[in-house]
Amino acid sequence: MGQKYLITSALPYVNGELHIGHLVGCWLPSDVYARFCRAQGRDVLYVCGADEHGTPAIVGAAKENMPIKEYNDKYYEKHLQAVSDFNLSFDLYGRTHTELQEKLVQDLFTRLENQGLIEERETIQPFSVDDDMFLADRQLEGTCPKCGYEKARGDQCDNCSATYEATELKNPRSVISGSTNIEMRKTKNLFFLASKMQEEWRNWLKEHAPKWSKTASAIAMGWANEGLRDTSITRDLKWGIPVNKPGYEDKVFYVWFDAPWGYVSISMATNKDWESWWKNADCFYAQFMGKDNVKFHSVFFPEQELAMHDNWKTVDMLKSMNFLNFEGGKISKSTGNGIFLDNALTIAPSDCWRYALMASAPETDDTDFTMARFADIVNKDLNGMLGNFVSRVCKLSNKNFGDVVPNGNGIDKDLETKINEKLNDLTNALEKCEFRDAVFALRSLWAIANEYMTVKEPWALVKNGDMAGAAKALNECFQMIDLFARVSQPFIPDAAEKMQNVFKIKHDLSWPTKYEHRIANGEKFVVPENLFNRIELTNDK
Ligand code: 2FM
Ligand code: ZN
Repeated sequence: MGQKYLITSALPYVNGELHIGHLVGCWLPSDVYARFCRAQGRDVLYVCGADEHGTPAIVGAAKENMPIKEYNDKYYEKHLQAVSDFNLSFDLYGRTHTELQEKLVQDLFTRLENQGLIEERETIQPFSVDDDMFLADRQLEGTCPKCGYEKARGDQCDNCSATYEATELKNPRSVISGSTNIEMRKTKNLFFLASKMQEEWRNWLKEHAPKWSKTASAIAMGWANEGLRDTSITRDLKWGIPVNKPGYEDKVFYVWFDAPWGYVSISMATNKDWESWWKNADCFYAQFMGKDNVKFHSVFFPEQELAMHDNWKTVDMLKSMNFLNFEGGKISKSTGNGIFLDNALTIAPSDCWRYALMASAPETDDTDFTMARFADIVNKDLNGMLGNFVSRVCKLSNKNFGDVVPNGNGIDKDLETKINEKLNDLTNALEKCEFRDAVFALRSLWAIANEYMTVKEPWALVKNGDMAGAAKALNECFQMIDLFARVSQPFIPDAAEKMQNVFKIKHDLSWPTKYEHRIANGEKFVVPENLFNRIELTNDK
């Protein structure tokens, strides 16, 4: 087996409906990367799962009037459906409310406490008089202390990505009852003394952040300049991982204290030897997430890992995406703006979403995705370039030479040079997790194939009686279909399989280092059904 690659995709909260923002933010980029790595022969452990703790689950279950466990089961099933619908190739799509996770996180706490990195502090927390409870994180909304956004959450602002303590929020109100009758009351909480980890973390960051995606390293460096603040790691809530310390029986750990360790506990639940990734300095670890998660993965999680002093693998490539908007607005179930994953496949098959979303990945800025753009990408690239090429080659060949690949005699050198250049671009872009560049290079390969057909005109050669010339040109085209099956597979696995199945002999979909002829003269093939269909937009889509 090749080099070890650990790949994790941010664990979506179990509440609410998943949408195309989740797909493009972490699921698709991580899946494309994992498929690319496997095709390279690397030894991949790729996990994700549902983040079941914290106030998102509490607030969501209350809204639907369901017990939290039942509520989580309901949405976990929906997650699993989406994972299968969109061909996400996780080793395991797990969840965080498990015994493994509880033990792991409680051990983490004990270890941090033994090292003098935990302190009990009396804090003032917002207490809702009408709800008769302390409010934490998403149970609370108000005005962001940093940017003034009026719908900021108790721990984090969706507008400017700031994180803060609940007491800093202005004009707080309860999400549960809407009440503004909020008092600041004393309570006891445990703090992780991040300030003590400052130097170790800074040194680590200096070495690692320059290799991350630009957005991620910029956010992380911002935190390095600001300095680390001690963080409260417990909450006055009933749902979450129980705090294993006397006196804390009615509290749980903060959801972000446990969530990243979900990557580990889910890895443990696979049938793989998880330690050979997680405790292996030679393993390469790539994380994928939306930009609002960067702080927790560049500061909080690595601090914990470093503080354990137990050889935990820290992130080598942190890839973060900006936000995807839809038709000019924020994606939101409550306003109905967006495409939700339980509905997406009624509009178009999975490959179309996978490709069009990666082609529109918000890598440098927040990006607006529209149905018109979606249809345009599918119609021009997938249907117009790739689908038509495969179909024309197979039909023309079948008509004139029957069901066997016509004879060629060696690679066309000009074509080989052009293809190898774009193939290199594609490989490099995927290696660096630059997905828009990767899509551009892939599309360029398809364009080269179409241009080849246009210039060679095999149908005209047939007409003029040059059957050997037509055979040679078509043979070259079949070699390109084989190449496209291999290099398209990370993006559009269903279409790749159809291209693979054009040939009666099953050729593997390993990643090519260069353009090569793998299809023998006279090999049997079948004309496939259309790879893609055009998308015609009606007014209601
Ligand atoms: O933002 C979110 O949806 C979080 N549940 C992501 C957690 S990622 C990981 F650390 F678990
Ligand atoms: Zn803000």
